[in-house]
Amino acid sequence: MNLSQLLLVLSWWCVSTAAVAEETCDNAPPNDPIGIDLGHRFVFASYANSINNFTLLGVVNHKEYQRQIEELSMDHFQRSGLGKPRSGSRSTPLALLTSVMWSLFEVIDARVSIRSNAYVIWTQDSIRSMSDTVYGIIPVSLQQKAKSFLVSRGLIKQKLSLSDVTETLTEVLAELKATSLAAHGVNVTWAVVGVPDFFNDTLRETVIQAGQQVGITILEGAVPPRSFCTHYLNPAIDQDDRVLVVHQGETHCGVQLYDGSPQRRRKGQSVYPYLPLDPWSGDRIQYRLVKELVDGDAQLKTLVVQGLDNGFLIQAVLKTRLTLKGYDPAVELLLGLEPLLEDQLGGNRDFEDGETLDELPLNLDSWWTHGNIPDLVLTRSQIMAAEKNYMETLANNIQVYLQAMSDPHETRKATKQERVDYAIILTDYFDGELVHRAVQEAIGHGVPIVGSLKDITMVAEGAARLAWTRRENLLLMRESRKTRHDEL
Ligand SMILES: *[C@@H]1O[C@H](CO)[C@@H](O)[C@H](O)[C@H]1NC(C)=O
Ligand SMILES: *[C@@H]1O[C@H](CO)[C@@H](O)[C@H](O)[C@H]1NC(C)=O
Ligand SMILES: *[C@@H]1O[C@H](CO)[C@@H](O)[C@H](O)[C@H]1NC(C)=O
Repeated sequence: MNLSQLLLVLSWWCVSTAAVAEETCDNAPPNDPIGIDLGHRFVFASYANSINNFTLLGVVNHKEYQRQIEELSMDHFQRSGLGKPRSGSRSTPLALLTSVMWSLFEVIDARVSIRSNAYVIWTQDSIRSMSDTVYGIIPVSLQQKAKSFLVSRGLIKQKLSLSDVTETLTEVLAELKATSLAAHGVNVTWAVVGVPDFFNDTLRETVIQAGQQVGITILEGAVPPRSFCTHYLNPAIDQDDRVLVVHQGETHCGVQLYDGSPQRRRKGQSVYPYLPLDPWSGDRIQYRLVKELVDGDAQLKTLVVQGLDNGFLIQAVLKTRLTLKGYDPAVELLLGLEPLLEDQLGGNRDFEDGETLDELPLNLDSWWTHGNIPDLVLTRSQIMAAEKNYMETLANNIQVYLQAMSDPHETRKATKQERVDYAIILTDYFDGELVHRAVQEAIGHGVPIVGSLKDITMVAEGAARLAWTRRENLLLMRESRKTRHDEL
């Protein structure tokens, strides 16, 4: 391990509390080796017994937290210039205008190959300028009036405020603290907290404040992005490697590249920007399958047109898809899906013994009170096609990112993409295997790729590893200082 890096971590954390640096670094009791992962879906806490041995302290599954993170992530995506209003959002004049722009984007998308770098830059710029033009037409005062009217009628929600976020984070951290005390007798009073990679300084500050509320000390420097926790100081990964991290879940997707090579490190350029991709990510496969089913069945189409809940249909398609694939029961259990799948099969999992089903009826009993829709099935080939499409789109997006990140001075060829030595997939949804294939397609075979739903605690463990390392270094430093003192 590289000592200068460790010292960097140490000094970084001490400097950030400069006023009390003396006390923090020299006298205060060493910090707990605890890491917390503020994921998109779950919040985990982990305790590092050593650099490679972790105890999971607790998991929090908090609905309001999930909703807020989703909103913040959408907000970030929209501001990156690629946004589209969520389907089903209110048809306010502004939402309609945005959706018109998006349709335009989709048309362009279908016609132009996404593999060209210049194209992506061009579309982003043109979407931004279109958006400026369109919004520029409506006077701001009118926009605000319209908005406050709609908010007062409950037609749209007031925008999330930072104090809402702090309040929710406080609840989440309090719950996590209570869980780890009850389950492991560990009083969490200090932690490194991995936050979603798009979190800006303001949002990081809300994390620190929430920590204060519940008695968890989180230093300013101890709020790294989630990607960082996965590879930094990880003994499995060479610190000089160029590491690609892909984030994926039900409603988020993003990529980030880290370059640990000494040249980049010396220049302080080892972190490339985080790029949000397709935010309706994991659900996209279900949307496509639902559309196929609805288009192909007149009876179902009538029901959908009459306004029956589409969300239920999407869930039913997801469950059927996972059942057909014979999804790992451990994963289903983790996400509370097991009983649902058992029900669907009438408690019968016999097909797992070698037999592969080619189609499965879609269970819509509780959706449509008059009983099931006969002959409505999802076939394996339909699913494979939707998954392949998803995989290829994602692979393309990753390639575009790597091309966009490649140094224009180093290459004259526009299609050249950055080399990757190691890839990490952070996922909290069911399609880790597809993401895996997409990453492989994008960066080539032979590059190690780790991460799946089962490795969902990877970030919490990485954060705990950072905390553990800091603690070891503090102890070591004190020891050597004491020895020197004794020698004198
Ligand atoms: C990990 O640490 C715990 C607690 O110190 C210990 O009981 C366990 O045996 C360790 N596991 C391994 C694989 O070393
Ligand atoms: C946890 O630690 C804090 C600070 O040291 C202390 O005030 C609190 O009483 C502790 N809680 C429990 C349950 O031990
Ligand atoms: C950070 O993001 C939040 C939420 O999107 C936003 O309210 C805040 O203004 C941003 N802060 C900065 C400094 O950009």
